[in-house]
Amino acid sequence: MTDVLLKISGINKRFGGLHALSDVGLTIKQGEIYGLIGPNGAGKTTLFNVLTGLYQPDEGEFTFNGKDLFRKKPNVVVEAGIARTFQNIRLFANMSALENVMVGQHVRSVTGVFGAILRTPKARAEEAAITAKAEALLAYVGIADRAQELARNLSYGDQRRLEIARALATNPTLLALDEPAAGMNPKETDDLKKLMEKIRADGVTILLIEHDVKLMMGLCDRIAVLDYGKKIAEGVPEEVKSNPRVIEAYLGVAPE
Ligand SMILES: Nc1ncnc2c1ncn2[C@@H]1O[C@H](COP(=O)(O)OP(=O)(O)OP(=O)(O)O)[C@@H](O)[C@H]1O
Ligand SMILES: [Mg+2]
Repeated sequence: MTDVLLKISGINKRFGGLHALSDVGLTIKQGEIYGLIGPNGAGKTTLFNVLTGLYQPDEGEFTFNGKDLFRKKPNVVVEAGIARTFQNIRLFANMSALENVMVGQHVRSVTGVFGAILRTPKARAEEAAITAKAEALLAYVGIADRAQELARNLSYGDQRRLEIARALATNPTLLALDEPAAGMNPKETDDLKKLMEKIRADGVTILLIEHDVKLMMGLCDRIAVLDYGKKIAEGVPEEVKSNPRVIEAYLGVAPE
């Protein structure tokens, strides 16, 4: 049996009178690419925000890799091994691509602020290692040649890749991607699919939100469907795309 990596149950999140997540439960197994789909406003990003400690859920249970992460802060979540990207790209626009990835690693650096300021030998060695790792991550996501470019000058597709590199810099066990293909052309989307497959092959479990149904059906091992904050279906792509409730709420007609 495959190991369960992430398990949530009975998750509720309300914003005033709006019930954004209603009794949501799901399990993600080690090594899966697990998809999350649903109409605009269904609660997908809200669920990511709950899973990464940005939002405090009202009720529920949340365990990850054997740890209790219910209502834990973002830094605790990152340390536990969950990293994410954002639907609206959040890069340091006026820092280079390389620096953006270096910042991602600093959450785990050991010498800390004083070591960095005093430039102790240990801090210098760590800085060199951080630079080398950031360069390797840029190469891994396919933008090594953009290392010195300011983030804001990168193409949209490259900014998405840079966000993935920065997330990977925290050495995650689970990588959560919120609409990484949004705004990409078909070639960029296909390259992104290959990158996600490579990341998974290298041992990182992936949780993915995307509206590109064809991409999701071809990539995900299992998919959950949210609608008005409720999970209305879950299963392998074949099951999900033929589910009448999913067709009614989201797909319209069954995709090929
Ligand atoms: N901080 C907040 N305060 C108030 N309402 C919020 C907040 N965050 C999200 N919501 C509401 O929760 C609902 C779910 O939003 P969410 O962003 O999770 O949807 P989504 O499934 O990611 O949609 P999309 O596909 O458009 O990205 C929406 O009605 C949204 O307006
Ligand atoms: Mg969203």
